[in-house]
Amino acid sequence: MALITKKIKGTEDVLPRQSYRWQFIEKIMREEASAYGFREIRTPVFEHTELFARGVGQTTDVVQKEMYTFDTKGGESVTLRPEGTAGAARAVLEHALENEGLPIKASYFVSCYRYEKPQAGRLREFHQFGVEEYGTQSPAADAELICLAQSVLDRLGLTEVRLEINSIGCPECRAKYNQALRDYFSQYKDQLCTTCLSRLEKNPMRLLDCKSPEDHKIAEGAPIITDYLCEECEAHFEQTKKYLDSAGISYEVNPTIVRGLDYYTKTVFEFITDCIGAQGTVCGGGRYDGLIEELGGKHLPSLGFAMGLERILMVMDAQGVEIPQPEPCALYIATMGDEAKVKAFSLLRQVRECGLQAETDVVGRGLRAQMKYADKIGAKYSLVLGDNEIAENKANVKNMDSGEQTELALDESFAEKFSVLSLTDKAGFEI
Ligand code: HAM
Repeated sequence: MALITKKIKGTEDVLPRQSYRWQFIEKIMREEASAYGFREIRTPVFEHTELFARGVGQTTDVVQKEMYTFDTKGGESVTLRPEGTAGAARAVLEHALENEGLPIKASYFVSCYRYEKPQAGRLREFHQFGVEEYGTQSPAADAELICLAQSVLDRLGLTEVRLEINSIGCPECRAKYNQALRDYFSQYKDQLCTTCLSRLEKNPMRLLDCKSPEDHKIAEGAPIITDYLCEECEAHFEQTKKYLDSAGISYEVNPTIVRGLDYYTKTVFEFITDCIGAQGTVCGGGRYDGLIEELGGKHLPSLGFAMGLERILMVMDAQGVEIPQPEPCALYIATMGDEAKVKAFSLLRQVRECGLQAETDVVGRGLRAQMKYADKIGAKYSLVLGDNEIAENKANVKNMDSGEQTELALDESFAEKFSVLSLTDKAGFEI
């Protein structure tokens, strides 16, 4: 039978030797989200296709070209989530979370699926850390969210990541802006790609994030949204910037940022780096005041952001940020003979109950090979358990670095004494 050993294009495995890197960044993200008052939400990996079509927007690349959509055996059309915002909004509505008090603050880790052309930093299955906040129209919330994203990136040790912000207004300013875009792009009708042509009438703003290089060039001369903002949107943007200034967050206003998803209103932002190639946006987000209504709920102004975990790890690599290695094995018990193996089990259990990592041989190696293995896994201490040790009910625990040996009784005090030994040793005290 042929071996099945190839993963699907655009997907990645995280192997046991690499997972500590993910756990490290996820821990920091969890801690920061919690410091800002967010609590985790977990939603299904697939949803009704309609949710994304309405939420993310029919004319977006994500919905038009990139979704993994299929019919279930029951004949329902479902889609693997291409992003986390729509599912979280659906859950907020379904469980009427607004009744529990506003604002609602939810954070998440999700795997996302987009049928894009894979390249460095662009995958078909990727992972996001995100936060969403519902029920506030205050620019203070916009600024606070940006601060949270900045805090995460700072704590991860990333440098050379710039923050670009923009306002893409409300439906009122957008109507005027859309007309200006239609007028502009109509001059280039014969040069636009077919997708853009189809978007020209329905949603001309989507022409601004077309991935075709020719269209991108044309888009460079297009009118900018900031010239069309209404008074309220303008004031909201000014106030957001004031809060950012007060928090000491540096940013650039980039009027060409429109984001690739339809739900955004007012503030949008991206954190971008040049150190990982063309896919340098590590975080993107903004306000989406109309989404909850679009999905059938009441008016509930909301906002959020998401960061790509793979991209964050790429930046950390590119910038040489060191991720602390996991603690190695504290104690390796090498055994000689069946009785020793049995005794090892009770000692290991004691040690592990003290919260320390401990291992023994479970593959049937001889003593020398066991010691070699202990060395390979970087065990801090080892202990050889044979007939003598069992007969005398004591054994020498050996510090694998210094070679120093300490005799410990093999009774119920073993783990506690070993704990003290390993802790004091680590702190550099004389034992
Ligand atoms: P997005 O900009 O589509 O926004 O994705 C957010 C982040 O996910 C990107 O900045 C990038 O780091 C990562 N990402 C996106 N596509 C890929 C891919 N194909 N491969 C690897 N990483 C990728 C959203 O998804 C919005 N839901 C963000 C949001 C939350 N807005 C409001 N709330």
